Amino acid sequence: MRVVVVGTGHVGLVTAATLAALGHDVIGLDRDEEKIGQLKRGMCPFFEPGLQEIIDDGVAVGRLRFETEPDEAVAGVEVLFVCVGTPARSSGEANLVAVERAARDIARHLTGPVVVVEKSTVPAGTSNRLHQALMQERPDLANDLEVISNPEFLREGRAVDDSLHPDRLLVGATSRRGFETMRRLYDPLIRKGHRLIETDIATAELAKHACNAFLALKISYANALARLCERAGADVTAVADVMGSDPRIGRAFLDAGLGYGGYCFPKDLQAFERFANQLGYDFPLLREVARINDEAVRAAVEKVKDSVWNLEDKRIALLGLAFKPGTDDVRFSPALALARHLIDEHATVVGYDPQAGANAKTEVPELEIAPDAYEAIQGAHCLVMCTGWDEFRALDLRQMKDRLAYPIVVDGRNFFDPIEMRKMGFVYHGTGRRLASEAY
Ligand code: UGA
Repeated sequence: MRVVVVGTGHVGLVTAATLAALGHDVIGLDRDEEKIGQLKRGMCPFFEPGLQEIIDDGVAVGRLRFETEPDEAVAGVEVLFVCVGTPARSSGEANLVAVERAARDIARHLTGPVVVVEKSTVPAGTSNRLHQALMQERPDLANDLEVISNPEFLREGRAVDDSLHPDRLLVGATSRRGFETMRRLYDPLIRKGHRLIETDIATAELAKHACNAFLALKISYANALARLCERAGADVTAVADVMGSDPRIGRAFLDAGLGYGGYCFPKDLQAFERFANQLGYDFPLLREVARINDEAVRAAVEKVKDSVWNLEDKRIALLGLAFKPGTDDVRFSPALALARHLIDEHATVVGYDPQAGANAKTEVPELEIAPDAYEAIQGAHCLVMCTGWDEFRALDLRQMKDRLAYPIVVDGRNFFDPIEMRKMGFVYHGTGRRLASEAY
């Protein structure tokens, strides 16, 4: 099928490349000339495992190309994905200006029957607005144009795999034609047994926010338990294991630590809360989830201060700066929130991340970036594990201890084994685990 994907950010680029991999003829469209220039030169603008390879494959077989101008790209398109950004306004509400602009911009160039697919995460009701805007631009296409919702559930760092092996495909539409178009588009996945859920548009839009908010809620629940476990002398990891052994609860997303970050959870949670509010439903549970998440970073700051006393003249090493392992994305990264708090209190903060160093430096210029983990640790008075990349598993604990000025480790991801750390002579502070002073 002939597909155009508008917006080549994380969701858009992965969507374009994977649809090409499924055999469609895809154009990635973006007004950002620099980004499209990079893609035309064969370079993926961000780090996402496996993405560069499928972009290369798609381009090589002529199924994937990139353009800045919609005129030629959009002519004759059957399915048009809207994957532009929906950042937060200062009120927390989703800013849908880019969605409207993209719709109006493209509408002028449409030539015939087309299904417009809303894939950006948007509040329920946005597809109606999108339809309205398209109709205002192109009343002549009233019978040929359909807007549907097809929210994305991919995770950064696993985006390609999630897109090619989705646990569900969700389609909200108003007509059989809409559903059939999406079934044709995803046919290679449906044939492999991946489930496509058909529903109405408002349900699809709301379900996406409901999923992200619920996952964030699980993390905050674990972090609230962590605070309690620290006071009660219990171990939050073991509590999570017990909870997770009940299939009604599930173990996933119950890892306590520095909390959630990234471009989805913090923004979507706020947008969902604002959306509920606008509909006259107060949803304080969502505000509480966000509050507990902020508290997780502050708790780590307190542990650092408690261990080294004043932060002036202290060097604090942060391992991992991305919002989670497997990505170079630092947007709303808890590690950077922690860095800012420590810098505000006059600590010297040095960080290392396998992928996100450059992005972190752009966000927090006062942060020193080390070329590797050992260099980051060298001479530090305290080490904070912020993002549990696999490569940190290979760290030599003895060398780590020798390099630290004081052998203090604040483990913001419960990454290390507390017993081993204490045996090695570290003063180890996990998250929601017994305090360092207590026998383990
Ligand atoms: C999230 C959802 O998981 C995807 O399903 C969704 O499609 C995506 O948002 C989106 O809306 O685009 P993502 O932001 O890539 O995906 O990251 P997650 O893997 O969900 O992790 C989010 C944050 O939660 C990370 O900072 C991670 O470190 C943290 N986390 C996760 C915890 O603190 N504890 C956990 O137990 C799990």
